[in-house]
Amino acid sequence: MKILLLLWMFLSAFIVRAEGTVRSGAVWPDNRGQHINAHGGGILYHDGRYYWFGEHKSAETTAALVGITCYSSENLTDWRYEGVALPVTDTAGDELERGCIMERPKVVYNASTRKFVLWFHLEFKGQGYGAARYGVAVSDHPTGPYRFLRSGRVNAGVQPLNMKGSMADLDTLDVWENAEWWTPQWRRAVEDGLFMRRDFDGGQMARDQTVFVDTDGRAYHIYSSEENLTLQIAELSPDYTAHTGRYIRVAPGGQNEAPTVFRHGDTYWMVTSGCTGWAPNRARLFSAPSIWGPWRQHDNPCRGKDADTTFGGQGTYILSTPKGHIFMADIWRPKQPDDSRYIWLPITFEDGLPVIQWRDEWSF
Ligand code: DGJ
Repeated sequence: MKILLLLWMFLSAFIVRAEGTVRSGAVWPDNRGQHINAHGGGILYHDGRYYWFGEHKSAETTAALVGITCYSSENLTDWRYEGVALPVTDTAGDELERGCIMERPKVVYNASTRKFVLWFHLEFKGQGYGAARYGVAVSDHPTGPYRFLRSGRVNAGVQPLNMKGSMADLDTLDVWENAEWWTPQWRRAVEDGLFMRRDFDGGQMARDQTVFVDTDGRAYHIYSSEENLTLQIAELSPDYTAHTGRYIRVAPGGQNEAPTVFRHGDTYWMVTSGCTGWAPNRARLFSAPSIWGPWRQHDNPCRGKDADTTFGGQGTYILSTPKGHIFMADIWRPKQPDDSRYIWLPITFEDGLPVIQWRDEWSF
């Protein structure tokens, strides 16, 4: 009997270890045995717990029928469902009306206000991706409920910090507004700020997004703007709920989506995707000596199986822990969105550059 007990203890040690591993692409059950439903998500670490926020996806549509969900964990592998942090509403015409699009939520904690601040990409019901707005909500508790503050476009009437000259210098660009896309002259106009200028009065478009908090406590909203052609990085106010007006354009005309940002030492790194809807494409890597740039592009950071399509996924967040940085991505399944899967892989460094190597299974 004693021998059997010892054998069981020995075997169970291996079972626990197997449970504590990350298997990208597999079904990831929560504490209820249901596949985690938190896509395009991000992670907040607060008071010894990790909080994972993401898009709730249904079986039939990629639009929001439920809202933004929250899960929590102590070890990043066992996740407890915490409920809907910011729900859709049933009020016709409401900005968060069921059927709207709520994507890529990210939560940050503001130590001075003691509030949790949720940023996400919002599109109004029935308007496709035309609104291109940010949404912001706050809560006193990490799991919510979050109170929706407002949606908007970014930094109306303000010119980017890294623009040479004045807005009047861009007046000649308006002839390209209705011109044929993708011609060399049109591309040059885009790089010069065609869509930034078009949206100057009403505010800059904000679609795929993340929020990055630097070591000095300043936070930045990083988003695909200007018709998804150009990224922008905008500083957030000290309470993290608004933009300050300080922003830059990054990789003008480069068509980057899915921005994910981390800092390693004194270097800021950004991994993005190209723009191919829900279909995966090759990841891009950028670096800068300051959040304000200059940002420089490097080669694809992914290695191994399907490295040219980001392993079949698209980045959503980079979680920085004392042990290292973890690249998080989504394997989108637009035909059955709730069956979309997750990729989490550690970031290593080779010759000073971040590398994301595919691993079938790994542990923290
Ligand atoms: C790619 C984006 O990264 C996703 O978040 C989503 O907006 C899809 N496009 C929609 O096609």
